[in-house]
Amino acid sequence: MNVVEQEFDALAAEYENNRLASWYQAHADEMLQHCITIEEGDILDIGCGTGHFLREYMKGKPGLKAVGVDVSSSMIVEASRKAQEAGLENLKFIHADWESMSLAPLSGYNFNIIFCANAFHYFTDPQAASDKLYKLLSDGGMLYVLERNKARSLLTLFWGFLHSTFIKDQVVFYKNSELINFFEKSGFTGVRIIRSIKKYFWKNKIFTSIVLLEGKKSDAAGNDSITTGTITGKQGSK
Ligand SMILES: C[S@@+](CC[C@H](N)C(=O)[O-])C[C@H]1O[C@@H](n2cnc3c(N)ncnc32)[C@H](O)[C@@H]1O
Repeated sequence: MNVVEQEFDALAAEYENNRLASWYQAHADEMLQHCITIEEGDILDIGCGTGHFLREYMKGKPGLKAVGVDVSSSMIVEASRKAQEAGLENLKFIHADWESMSLAPLSGYNFNIIFCANAFHYFTDPQAASDKLYKLLSDGGMLYVLERNKARSLLTLFWGFLHSTFIKDQVVFYKNSELINFFEKSGFTGVRIIRSIKKYFWKNKIFTSIVLLEGKKSDAAGNDSITTGTITGKQGSK
């Protein structure tokens, strides 16, 4: 078991009640507000934690199927229990490491949207992880990644230094330009920041600097967004 798995196994039971729960849930709110909302189709959340975001996204959408993937088995246990309690039968969770998992368990789905919130900085090979997201996403689908904004945060720079020097896990925070570069290199088009938040003393955290990025996978006809007519909401402005 790697250090990330251990860390999140230990946090899982209290993840939706601890000091940072409202901070992470505020990120989910931002995503719900600014990402495309579809009523039908398949969606995927990589590094889903206890599944709070997917549960919220799925509310009132019986035509939607969702899958969450997480490397922490305890997160998956919590996520599955909470989804069951909420009566969300179309919401499934898989215990797996995104970087090494086979895509076979996901082969029955056509993912219109893939989300990855607060998890990309754990990947040991970010380019390969991004390439895999591109491979799995359906043609015409959308990718949304929420990450720290290293360039605008001394605290994030400091945490990055702590992780690489003392904690010695695989956490690496990126500049926005580096994130955009990973996704464009994988083949995503229209990669851009759709939401940027910089706040002091927000939701129990001294300093927050995060960005929400989107990317598109063009379909064979060259259309570069979901055009199924199932969209009920669209991202707002920055
Ligand atoms: C900070 S939590 C974020 C959880 C949720 N997305 C949120 O925003 O509240 C990061 C999650 O990513 C998961 N994770 C880290 N590396 C992963 C990997 N390689 N594959 C799948 N999940 C991973 C962790 O287990 C953890 O649950």
